[in-house]
Amino acid sequence: VTARIIDGRAIARSIEEEVRAEIERLRFRPGLTAIRVGSDPASEIYVRNKAKKAHQLGLRGDERILPDSITERDLLDEVQRLNEDADIDGILVQLPLPKHIDSRKIIDAVDPAKDVDGFHPMNVGRLHLGREVLAPCTPAGCVRLIESTGVPIEGKHAVIVGRSDIVGKPMAALLLQRNATVTVAHSRTPDLAAVVKQGDIVVAAVGKPRLIQAEMLKRGAVVIDVGINRIPENNRSVLVGDVDFGHAREVAGWITPVPGGVGPMTIAMLMRNTLTAAMWRRR
Ligand code: GUN
Repeated sequence: VTARIIDGRAIARSIEEEVRAEIERLRFRPGLTAIRVGSDPASEIYVRNKAKKAHQLGLRGDERILPDSITERDLLDEVQRLNEDADIDGILVQLPLPKHIDSRKIIDAVDPAKDVDGFHPMNVGRLHLGREVLAPCTPAGCVRLIESTGVPIEGKHAVIVGRSDIVGKPMAALLLQRNATVTVAHSRTPDLAAVVKQGDIVVAAVGKPRLIQAEMLKRGAVVIDVGINRIPENNRSVLVGDVDFGHAREVAGWITPVPGGVGPMTIAMLMRNTLTAAMWRRR
C-alpha cells in the first residue's frame, strides 16, 4: 500500500481560518513585526510572506528591513523599541543574521512575552519544563501534522533526525510532553539506518537532500519531512526534502510532501502564536 499524504496546505489553511475568526471577535488588532537584516533572498521571501499572511488574517503586520551594515548595538536598540511599544504583540527577527551580529544577543533581547518564535532561553526552558509557552512554530506545526493523522503519539517511538535549536531540540520536547519515547539522531550517530528503523514517527530536519531512504523506514511509519533543499536535477532546479519521498511513500503509513507539507504550517503557527501572545499580554 502507498502512504497517505499529509496535506500541510489544507491543515495550515484551517488553522489560519480559526485564527482569522478569533481575531475578528477581538476589540483590537494584534500586531506582529518581522525584522529582516540585509538581503538574503530566501529571508526576503519568508519575511514578506509572514507580513502578508498577517494582513490577510486581520493582524497588523509590519516588515522592518534593516541594512546589512547595521551594528549589533543599533539592532538591539530596535528590538528594545519594539519591546517597549505596547501595540506590538509579536517580534520576530529572521535568522540567519549577518556574521558581525551575535544572534544569541539579539534573541536574548526580545521580550519573552513577545517572542513568537519561541527562541528566547526563558521560553526554551518553559517548553522543556512542560509549562505554558509560545513554542517554536515549525516543530509545533509538525505536532499538528502528526495529530492530523489520528495516530496517537503516546507510547510511540519518535525518531528525530537533526538537533537544531529551531527544530530538532524543541521537537523532542514537544513529543516527550505527549508521552512519546524520543530518540534524537544527528550527524555523529553511527548506523542512522538502524535508529530510523525503530521510528513509528520519523521527523527529518537536517537539510540533507533525500538522506532518509525508504529502506531505513519502519513499515507504516508517520514521516514528517522538514527539509527544504534546492538541488539541480535533469538540468532543472528542484525542491526536495530530507526524505526520498518517491520511494518512502511505498513504505510509510503517512508522509508529508515537499513542498506542501511542513512549510505552510510554520507560517500558520506563527499567526497562532501572535494571537496567543496578544491574548496573554492582556490577561
Ligand atoms: N530562519 C529559519 N527558520 C526560522 C524561523 O522559524 N524563525 C526565524 N526568525 N528565522 C528563521
